[in-house]
Amino acid sequence: MRLSIAAALVATSALLACARSQQEVAVATATPVAAPAGAAPAAPTPRRQPVSPMKLDTVRKEAIATLMATLKGRENEPAGAVFKNVKLHKAMPVKEFLTMMDEQYGRGLSFACTNCHMDNGDYASDERKNKVIARQMERMQRDIDSKYIEKVKELDDPRPKTTCVMCHRGTPHMPNTMDVPTAPVPQRKR
Ligand code: HEC
Ligand code: HEC
Repeated sequence: MRLSIAAALVATSALLACARSQQEVAVATATPVAAPAGAAPAAPTPRRQPVSPMKLDTVRKEAIATLMATLKGRENEPAGAVFKNVKLHKAMPVKEFLTMMDEQYGRGLSFACTNCHMDNGDYASDERKNKVIARQMERMQRDIDSKYIEKVKELDDPRPKTTCVMCHRGTPHMPNTMDVPTAPVPQRKR
């Protein structure tokens, strides 16, 4: 009985393999259907190309330079005193706050500032969905740190903290798997 099942499996897989190779031949030899004479050539479907991370970096740096030019001399004042709608980082100096916007919120997700903020430079507005999500992410991090990470006394790091980059690694939708690294993975300096 067992033997006949095995035989049937072998036969089936041979059949499948055969069907597959026939399909491959069909694909390889298929010729494009000619458009009827006089018909306009079909327009290629527009595809949204992902923007290069280097380009995004330049765009963010420009946005920060424009903003800083309006805030000369206030770089070290607390963000909460300089900006209108800062709820979670009130005490953070402006310069550090904008570096965080660039490196964590921006680079960390491969986002331009305008993925979270309005195109017209109204950074105080909470209209963009991603800005609303980002605040919830920040609250989640504070929860994780205070409720769990800081309580793991055995950790090597004396001041362990979660950050956007630690989860996101340059994408809003992180893969749930990873390849075997081909070289040692760099570690954060402690
Ligand atoms: C992932 C979303 C996200 C990205 C990307 C992002 N921000 Fe923000 N930004 C926020 C959130 C959330 C706040 C509010 C923080 C708070 O309440 O403490 C904020 C607040 C600000 C504020 C304060 C505005 C005010 O008047 O209250 C400025 C200025 C700002 N961001 C600039 C930038 C710049 C410049 C960039 C690009 C380099 C950027 N942000 C990228 C989410 C983002
Ligand atoms: C503990 C892991 C973790 C940390 C830390 C984290 N995130 Fe997330 N974030 C997620 C997960 C999981 C999702 C959902 C991903 C998905 O939908 O594929 C997400 C989604 C998001 C999204 C929505 C993306 C979309 O297009 O739907 C934004 C914006 C975001 N995170 C911003 C941030 C910011 C800003 C920080 C740092 C303040 C942060 N996240 C920190 C896990 C994390």
